[in-house]
Amino acid sequence: MIETDFIPDSLILDKDHGIVQYTSPSNIALIKYWGKLENQIPANPSISFTLNACSTTTKIEYVKLGKRASDFSFDLYFEGLPKEEFKPKITTFFKRIITYMPFLLEYRLSIHTSNTFPHSSGIASSASGMSALALCLMEMERSFTKNMTDDYFDRKASFLSRLGSGSACRSINGPLVQWGKSNYVESSSNLYGIPFPYDVHPIFNNFHDTILLVDKGEKQVSSTVGHDLMHGHPFAANRFKQADDNLGKIIGVLESGNIKEFMKIVESEALTLHSMMMTSNPYFILMKPNTLSIINAIWEFRETSNTHVCFTLDAGANVHVLYPENEKDKVFSFIKEKLVPFCQNGQYICDQIGQGAKKKVIYV
Ligand code: DP6
Repeated sequence: MIETDFIPDSLILDKDHGIVQYTSPSNIALIKYWGKLENQIPANPSISFTLNACSTTTKIEYVKLGKRASDFSFDLYFEGLPKEEFKPKITTFFKRIITYMPFLLEYRLSIHTSNTFPHSSGIASSASGMSALALCLMEMERSFTKNMTDDYFDRKASFLSRLGSGSACRSINGPLVQWGKSNYVESSSNLYGIPFPYDVHPIFNNFHDTILLVDKGEKQVSSTVGHDLMHGHPFAANRFKQADDNLGKIIGVLESGNIKEFMKIVESEALTLHSMMMTSNPYFILMKPNTLSIINAIWEFRETSNTHVCFTLDAGANVHVLYPENEKDKVFSFIKEKLVPFCQNGQYICDQIGQGAKKKVIYV
């Protein structure tokens, strides 16, 4: 599908008001998206596990305006309270998607949103937040349209989410989502994420992700700035090729259940992401001393315990500890005893691979 396929041709705007609500999860990339072109087109393909516990719930109440407005009309409530400072980000998003959602100027929206994880946990809320919002808007569009297929709904929800935040396009479905054109995945697209189209070995069922909150402060460098620094980065071209090669490798690994190879690819991706940051101009470091202590403790434990625990990182200091269901007791005891002491105020979140976004209440 191409961009113009997402411009609706006939909408029946006969609804005066309605309520839509979605809960959408966060996701953790195994092959990292880092670097992008105009219009949120990724510089390389990526793949992620959809999470379950870390999610955003968004409800939109919409009321038809007397006539089409010249500007967006909406209120925003975060955890029950008006949140003016989030509004510019939403306005930017609406501007990016107005071609695809022309009805946005016909309605006044009241947007209520909340996260399951603490706002200042250092966990990025853009993936779950933008995808929850995009899904609510798609539910509105569905109510103005005849016979929208579920496939089109998911694809356009992912397409819109991407325009809000790249990684958000991987939060619509689960348990594994691939985004970005690659010769290794026939139906892949730069415009939206797709459910992983190949077989997955049962060892990856119910995979665990315990998120260790190492540093809950504001990041010194945002993802947007970080992505931008990949332009003119001396290693960019090789990195983009490496990500594609790793995607090719991980497809076979996910199918065969070769967990040793899985750990190698996932950890290498995490460290490569951070080495891109360290070799950007200007350079920066998002890991903290405790991030490294945790990584070393995981490697030491893995040597001696015969388990298959590994780590990944997103654009921050927190560590995602990944392990299979059949090793959960042993690994979780280790996490509590040896890793939690490295967390800020001993905080961590137990998450697991999830199935994607869920519609909650609907009145259209
Ligand atoms: C390191 O999706 O947050 O988590 O598109 O600018 O919103 P924007 O960036 P964002 O970048 C995520 C980067 C990452 C890797 C990943 O999730 O693939």
